[in-house]
Amino acid sequence: MHLPIQSDDLQAQIDSFPYWYHRIELPGGHVTPGWAPMAPEAYNVPQDLTGKRVLDVGAWDGFWSFEAMKRGAAEVVAIDDFSDFLGSLGNEDRKAWENFDFCREALGYPESQCQRIEMSVYEVNPERLGEFDIVFCFGVLYHLRYPLLALDMLSSVCKDEIYIETAVCDDFSPYQGGFGKGYPGAQPVMEFYPNNEYGNNNTNWWAPSLSCLGLMTMSAGWMDVEVWKLTENPQALPHCRGFARGKKAA
Ligand SMILES: C[S@@+](CC[C@H](N)C(=O)[O-])C[C@H]1O[C@@H](n2cnc3c(N)ncnc32)[C@H](O)[C@@H]1O
Repeated sequence: MHLPIQSDDLQAQIDSFPYWYHRIELPGGHVTPGWAPMAPEAYNVPQDLTGKRVLDVGAWDGFWSFEAMKRGAAEVVAIDDFSDFLGSLGNEDRKAWENFDFCREALGYPESQCQRIEMSVYEVNPERLGEFDIVFCFGVLYHLRYPLLALDMLSSVCKDEIYIETAVCDDFSPYQGGFGKGYPGAQPVMEFYPNNEYGNNNTNWWAPSLSCLGLMTMSAGWMDVEVWKLTENPQALPHCRGFARGKKAA
């Protein structure tokens, strides 16, 4: 049995975690001191998710899982394999699900409605997880050695919509000259980073161009696909991000 966390204790408990990736609004005006997401509105996730079953891939602290719950989702399943250390975090900084569990408890969401499972995107299948109305795949695609395989796995459990956010190579390519140099326009290109070429993080493997991202999403079974950039005028590498939304049914 979990006892509700007292509001007075909440800040002290938030402060006791070594690292927060997400800024998550908790009861009593407390906010976890992470830095992501930079621009949640840019993801174009519907404000109303009433009754939806949502899969949040690579959930980390759980911002998007809790956001889905706040927007009315009937059920959220969060998965993560804890493979991303941003190229510099120590093992002691990633407390596996402890940050997520703390926020879930503070927000009062029951485990039955908002569960988390330690698993890789490659293990996703309908027998294990059932089907979802909506899949979130934010900040994950470029960390994957097999991005198309992952999209195929996600397609196998998605009845309707996928929302994807990822690094894109339209405005940054270490091979084309760095920041401000990449593959603008409609070139369906994906760059491979065998070492630390992208963001000095050796778990960054691939960055597609925006056009490539859209075509990859279509190739995995979503028909009605839209893509957009975080900004047309990125000022730094973290701004070189793109989004896709795909819908199964027209
Ligand atoms: C950059 S963070 C993004 C966190 C969150 N989705 C967001 O966008 O704010 C990437 C997350 O994906 C997870 N991840 C990386 N590869 C994965 C895989 N194969 N299966 C599941 N999760 C994975 C990492 O452990 C990390 O928590």
